[in-house]
Amino acid sequence: MNEIRLKIPAHADYVELVRLCLYGIASDMGFSLEAIDDMKVAAAEACNNAVLHANPQGETNFIDIVFEITEASLTIRVKDQGLSFDFQETLARETSLHNKAVNELQTSGLGLFLMQALMDDVTVLTENGTEVILTKHI
Ligand SMILES: Nc1ncnc2c1ncn2[C@@H]1O[C@H](COP(=O)(O)OP(=O)(O)OP(=O)(O)O)[C@@H](O)[C@H]1O
Ligand SMILES: [Mg+2]
Repeated sequence: MNEIRLKIPAHADYVELVRLCLYGIASDMGFSLEAIDDMKVAAAEACNNAVLHANPQGETNFIDIVFEITEASLTIRVKDQGLSFDFQETLARETSLHNKAVNELQTSGLGLFLMQALMDDVTVLTENGTEVILTKHI
């Protein structure tokens, strides 16, 4: 396995840099353009959440991004040190979208749902801050 690491200030301005790196890495690995677009959307959602939650006191902390490259898959890990949340509870709330009429849908609370729809595997660790682990197979 190969690893590429990126550390960015927890600010929205730097999320595009993650998308650009991801594009470079994933196209090198031979992923289709469609798969790359899916991963870019999922990774940006994870980064946007990290940006929102990484700086609970208004300071500028950092977000650690790790790309794990194997022959068969790419894993993107997005880690912030902010206050965390109950992943299972949040997921239950979001996936209940399915039972709602269109006019009941909210325009927020879609990030985790999108990540799950677009990636092959999504794991969230909430021991020390939040780490979102997104995997796609080639
Ligand atoms: N990195 C994180 N740190 C702390 N809490 C998080 C983090 N990521 C997600 N959450 C929690 O999970 C909830 C759901 O996240 P999700 O991205 O699905 O929706 P959202 O960010 O509220 O809205 P949207 O992404 O659609 O604009 C968030 O509202 C937040 O409470
Ligand atoms: Mg979000």
